Amino acid sequence: MYEAGSLEELREILGECERCPLHEGRTKIVFGYGNPEAKLMFVGEGPGRAEDAQGLPFVGPAGKLLDDLLGQIGMTRQQVYIANVVKCRPPGNRDPLPLEVETCIPFLRRQIELIKPGIVCELGRIAAGVMMERTIQITRIHGQKFLGRGYFNVPVFHPAAALRAPATMQLLREDFARLKEYLEEEEPPPPAAEPEPEQMGLF
Ligand code: URA
Repeated sequence: MYEAGSLEELREILGECERCPLHEGRTKIVFGYGNPEAKLMFVGEGPGRAEDAQGLPFVGPAGKLLDDLLGQIGMTRQQVYIANVVKCRPPGNRDPLPLEVETCIPFLRRQIELIKPGIVCELGRIAAGVMMERTIQITRIHGQKFLGRGYFNVPVFHPAAALRAPATMQLLREDFARLKEYLEEEEPPPPAAEPEPEQMGLF
């Protein structure tokens, strides 16, 4: 775990990272974007082509949809914080490998500790599986609220999947409506300890 006291400090520790092979193919590191005190944080799997070029998360087609979904619940990307499991683009947009996730995840974990969101919304199966430390079925658990380490996890479909299938788009819009309800409920986040084992029955 990195002990940075601020996001800026954490970004400095990350530096021009060469800790895993993903650095070889990247153009820009995508550290994260948004409000450092956000109540709602989004986590995707890793930068795509547009993100790699600009150094910002979710700025391609999936990002445009994310902006639209945020608008649906009366929010903007300036109010939330957006980051990814890995901060460099996997070649050809493949899923990040276990070694890459393992190497990069301490940075995301520290970002979450510093931002202290009440809700972390995972965009897609990969991010949800990594954050919830389980093999999950996104079709079964999307839109539900699960105990995390000091926050609630709300996994949803990846916006890119919704762009490919109208039925998924409908489900994603419904899940964002639920996300708004969860935010309005303001349920106090669980303690930062490991989630209770009985929660795991829900998977
Ligand atoms: N897909 C992701 O998972 N993350 C991004 O930043 C962009 C697309």
